[in-house]
Amino acid sequence: MLIWAIANQKGGVGKTTTSLCLSRNLAESGERVLLLDLDPHASLTRAFEVPSAPPPAGTHDLFSGHDPDLRTLARGTAIPGLLMVAAQPALATLERRGATQPGLGLALGRALHRVRDDFDYVLLDCPPTLGLLMVNALAAADRLVIPTQTDPLALHGLADMLRTAEMIERSRRRPLQRHILPTLFDRRTRSGVQSLEQLHDTYAGRVWHKAVPMDTRLRDPAVLTAAEAPTGRGALAYRSALRWLLETAESVNARKEAA
Ligand SMILES: Nc1ncnc2c1ncn2[C@@H]1O[C@H](COP(=O)(O)OP(=O)(O)OP(=O)(O)O)[C@@H](O)[C@H]1O
Ligand SMILES: [Mg+2]
Repeated sequence: MLIWAIANQKGGVGKTTTSLCLSRNLAESGERVLLLDLDPHASLTRAFEVPSAPPPAGTHDLFSGHDPDLRTLARGTAIPGLLMVAAQPALATLERRGATQPGLGLALGRALHRVRDDFDYVLLDCPPTLGLLMVNALAAADRLVIPTQTDPLALHGLADMLRTAEMIERSRRRPLQRHILPTLFDRRTRSGVQSLEQLHDTYAGRVWHKAVPMDTRLRDPAVLTAAEAPTGRGALAYRSALRWLLETAESVNARKEAA
């Protein structure tokens, strides 16, 4: 089982859209995929139209101290092969508890370890804040995918995220592969084109060579969560991004085996 955290400390850069598109593309290619909503704002949970009454089982339960089985928290989706775990509003209170309750930083990793034979991939949709939930995700992940909006301000957010990843990597003493996915790219604007160039110049080798374009079809959650695969430039770009991610993982593994 491989765990991918989709994270960026900056908000609105396409984390949730990326989590959803990559998950469904992996499921469509026959993988058993589990998608977790770790954001108290619950955009992903809303995209799947999870009813709020009665309160759904969800990712907050992982921090309840009862170590629940993730399989009992997961729910099916319209997409064959894709299960998801909803976010509950109580997630927003976790940061305060985390400061006083030891061991909460690894709760997610423990729960995922217990289901390692049940899924091929787990994708973690992270909140845009550096707190207990993001630390849990980065501590558990094999790789970090950082969606980065192609505008000058977003590049600062990316630098913050990479520093955080380094810090977590040092403390967990296990490599965390990092991949940057340019998103929301508008090739008609100078700032978009320049930001993309700057991304490639600064982070060569870690950045996807293409970019997910602006595409209004990606804004419709009903389209992204439907059984039928979405069409359009954005959906195509995410398929191509997934191929790149899988190929980079393979080349990293091959290098490790050759060493
Ligand atoms: N390629 C795209 N083209 C057009 N709209 C997009 C694209 N990617 C994402 N969006 C839209 O941009 C907004 C932000 O995207 P998304 O929710 O995926 O970002 P996020 O990083 O998860 O945000 P948050 O930090 O609030 O969790 C959403 O309205 C989404 O539908
Ligand atoms: Mg989001």
